[in-house]
Amino acid sequence: MYLTREEERIYDGEYGWANQKCMRILVRLGELFDATKLIPISSAHVSGISYKTLGDAPIEYLETLANAGGKVKTKGTLNPQSFDPEYLKNKLSADLQKKQSGILKQFEKMGFTHSLTCTPYYLEEPKSGSHLAWAESSAVVYTNSVLGAWTNREGGPSALAAAIIGKTPNSGIHKAENRQAGVLVEVDKCMKNETDFGVLGILLGKILGDKIPAIQGLQGTSKDNLKQLSAALASMGMVNMFRCADKRRPTEMETEDKVVVKAEDIKETAEELSTASEKKPDLIFIGCPHCSLSEIRRIADLMENKKVKAGTEFWVCTSHCVKQKAKDCVKRIERSGGHVLEGVCTVVSWTEKLGIETIMTNSAKTAHYAPTLSKAETILASQEECLKTALRR
Ligand code: F3S
Repeated sequence: MYLTREEERIYDGEYGWANQKCMRILVRLGELFDATKLIPISSAHVSGISYKTLGDAPIEYLETLANAGGKVKTKGTLNPQSFDPEYLKNKLSADLQKKQSGILKQFEKMGFTHSLTCTPYYLEEPKSGSHLAWAESSAVVYTNSVLGAWTNREGGPSALAAAIIGKTPNSGIHKAENRQAGVLVEVDKCMKNETDFGVLGILLGKILGDKIPAIQGLQGTSKDNLKQLSAALASMGMVNMFRCADKRRPTEMETEDKVVVKAEDIKETAEELSTASEKKPDLIFIGCPHCSLSEIRRIADLMENKKVKAGTEFWVCTSHCVKQKAKDCVKRIERSGGHVLEGVCTVVSWTEKLGIETIMTNSAKTAHYAPTLSKAETILASQEECLKTALRR
């Protein structure tokens, strides 16, 4: 791998231990994945921020890096933490709060912004064609496929190293030749709502391996729906991007591989994702990935003049940034008995410690993870059905 004179100096430790460590991580990964050089990035997004998912072991590494002068050289953003500063914080033990705050302190010391979201593209949309080092898998697929920026699926430590160096190896889908579709997917007019887009992602994630699909026949391709497809695709398989193919024009693909998805495939996969035998959720959750402004507006409209049923929790998760922009809608949702939580989600928080045993959600990604990560039964349903269940008639 070619290194500039400056990069060699960092590699040899002339700029301190933190920079040397991060440069060595990037070079090692670059060599493993056939990179020829490092390329500058416009931003790095680090995952594994929640104490629930991070655990104790990496905290010492973060402290050492921060104390050794590790500082971000590009825009550095963070995934959600394990509680929000208002509603959940007071429900969790002082010890958990202390550990979580300690993790955030180290990232802040290194110069990361307090973004705490899995949708960093709502804070600032990356430019099409720009190179990034993002570690949140749902955001990786979305930004490659919908926004046209280029990023591999980084792990937390490699995104952190890229943030501190401001560069990433030019491997994987940072190269144009690796961004070509390898399989054609024909969807047979069966997408009704955002939940179906998520279910399609789970289904394709299971069968595609790491092949990039060109998907034909998608209807209702709003950015919110494609966000659900991105999140689910990433949670099930190793696919890091998809292409939406136009049925009227022949695709430029050179592959014979073809997958046909029919309505019954979507129905069957959706049924598998709903594990609860009874339709009685303790928690109804919307906001995986974190809600956009338009999603919050729609939820507020659907809740107008209605109240959440007694004994039911209704959570909408988003970032601090979007919550601020949606202040009026947030008030309307909270007046109806819902909670708009910032910087957190059910998967990276401890819902099991709050006695939540059944989660209803419109997110196929949450439905996929909740049985293992939240020890909860799941009910997967559209946003509209979730609201119907949450609200008194
Ligand atoms: Fe985001 Fe949590 Fe879903 S981090 S993508 S809301 S599992």
